[in-house]
Amino acid sequence: MRTHRIAAIGGDGIGPEVIDAGVEVLRACAERDGGFELAVEQFDWGSEYYRQHGVMMPEGGADRLRAFDAIFFGAVGAPDIPDHLTLWGLRLAICQPLDQYANVRPTRILPGITSPLRNVSGPELDWVIVRENSEGEYAGVGGRVHRGLPEEVATDVSMFTRVGVLRIMRYAFRLAQSRPRKLLTVVTKSNAQRHAMVMWDEIAAEVAAEFPDVSWDKMLVDAMTMRMTLRPQTLDTIVATNLHADILSDLAAALAGSLGIAPTGNLNPERNSPSMFEPIHGSAFDITGKGIANPVGAFWTASMMLDHLGERDAAERLMRAVERVTADPKLHTPDLGGTATTRQVTDAVCEALRGAND
Ligand code: IPM
Ligand code: MG
Repeated sequence: MRTHRIAAIGGDGIGPEVIDAGVEVLRACAERDGGFELAVEQFDWGSEYYRQHGVMMPEGGADRLRAFDAIFFGAVGAPDIPDHLTLWGLRLAICQPLDQYANVRPTRILPGITSPLRNVSGPELDWVIVRENSEGEYAGVGGRVHRGLPEEVATDVSMFTRVGVLRIMRYAFRLAQSRPRKLLTVVTKSNAQRHAMVMWDEIAAEVAAEFPDVSWDKMLVDAMTMRMTLRPQTLDTIVATNLHADILSDLAAALAGSLGIAPTGNLNPERNSPSMFEPIHGSAFDITGKGIANPVGAFWTASMMLDHLGERDAAERLMRAVERVTADPKLHTPDLGGTATTRQVTDAVCEALRGAND
């Protein structure tokens, strides 16, 4: 029997609710599969931990996570704590030392979900966004001096390294190559940002030469928003900087029907350290504790995690179960216009898994 050690960090807001639902569904997956088991350890890190201890996680927290095969993460962010503290104190404090440099965000319109785009259904929108996850605009380089004075200055410097750009481009080209259409769009802004973005374009062209079977093109980020909206079927794999992909992935999630269903993986592709999987939706404190959070984002995330752990059959079986459930509008949570609860959707997915004969 294969054992996968999972660190579960529910975090803030609806995070713990959807991670609990996700762990339940993962257990049903393991039971149905019979070939593996999960050893899940829960961590209570996040904003409540911060209120008690003044830090989002204990010192050496990221190092403790190295002992696990994967991290299942809920959300971070609370109304009473500045967002930059919660983010840098937990999510980035894990992603950066564990070198999870590739943030992968698949986007599809699941059965039963309606895109806000007229005439766009499943086949026209099937993308994977690859977000550079270790540097760029999120490098943390910058500073603030003369606080409060008229001469106050603040800078956020976006920092790109050749190593960082090379590895994300290689990852993106390889991923594009593994998908049927072998099509990659490199997002840039090298018309206005004339240093780092020009290097980004040059490295993309260098790496492209290593992948002659991948067709690729380049899009300025502003024009990319129009192409995603007006010609979604012309896109497949997309690679962009940390900030550009952050923005484009919210657009992608909205075009696919709901932020409540979108998953993400923060990957260390070389597997030198564990990767971290999280739904994109965030803490959503307006609906925390109401039992109506959409757990589908956490389930899709769980499927990505199983795939990364080498459990491809179980990952695919879970996605089929999720799709059977999303196809039924009676099982839609309020973010999708329905009245279903987290509990009902979770039970339905577990039931679909138990009944799965494939
Ligand atoms: C995301 C989120 C985060 C980000 C927020 C919570 C800081 O928007 O994962 O896309 O910008 O990275
Ligand atoms: Mg975002």
